[in-house]
Amino acid sequence: MAFTIAIDGPAAAGKGTISRAVAAHFGFAHLDTGLLYRAVGRRMLEGVPPIAAAQTLTAQDLGGTGLRAPEVSQAASRVAAIPEVRAALVDFQRAFARRDGGAVLDGRDIGTVICPEADAKLFVTASPEVRARRRFDELCATGVTTDYARVLEETRERDDRDATRADAPLRAAPDAVVIDTSALDVEAAVAAAIAAVETRSGRARA
Ligand code: CDP
Repeated sequence: MAFTIAIDGPAAAGKGTISRAVAAHFGFAHLDTGLLYRAVGRRMLEGVPPIAAAQTLTAQDLGGTGLRAPEVSQAASRVAAIPEVRAALVDFQRAFARRDGGAVLDGRDIGTVICPEADAKLFVTASPEVRARRRFDELCATGVTTDYARVLEETRERDDRDATRADAPLRAAPDAVVIDTSALDVEAAVAAAIAAVETRSGRARA
């Protein structure tokens, strides 16, 4: 049986951690849709035109190192504003969402555009300062040299580009449960997400 959980939100709000934990809890498959845009962004930086890159993306492009590098994050949000790039990635995401056994997809437009019929929708957010601090710590842990002020500026830049683009802008679906993780640790955020999905699925079965 298919059961789709859509998890959207801005950069470094904790979507990835929450999505992986929610998928593990329910035994569902998980797709980090940001990786698709990152892979297209990386290919653009290598000189491939972004629309062609999106139309010929392979599983191999989703692996390898460097997809989380700051320049790839910025390239991802630039290619993500191109309607033809988004269109080329729709079918793959929808097929994943409908797979048997349940699926969790995280991104920016899952509950609004990719899966408006999702069984449960979450919008995970946090203040820009908290998100930049988390991303800064993550980057330091992977050996990237940067400073907090720069990460905050890049986070705001990406938020702004993601929220103001004409095609599939970042926003919460009207029926999404909003989880602000600014003051929550990982355990509390995951518990809130699982509780929200259980409430929704109970309602879906009722
Ligand atoms: O991990 P983080 O939240 O920093 O970023 P991500 O989820 O990997 O997404 C990277 C970029 O891809 C975002 O800034 C968006 O511009 C774009 N994206 C999108 O437009 N739609 C999605 N469903 C997922 C990502």
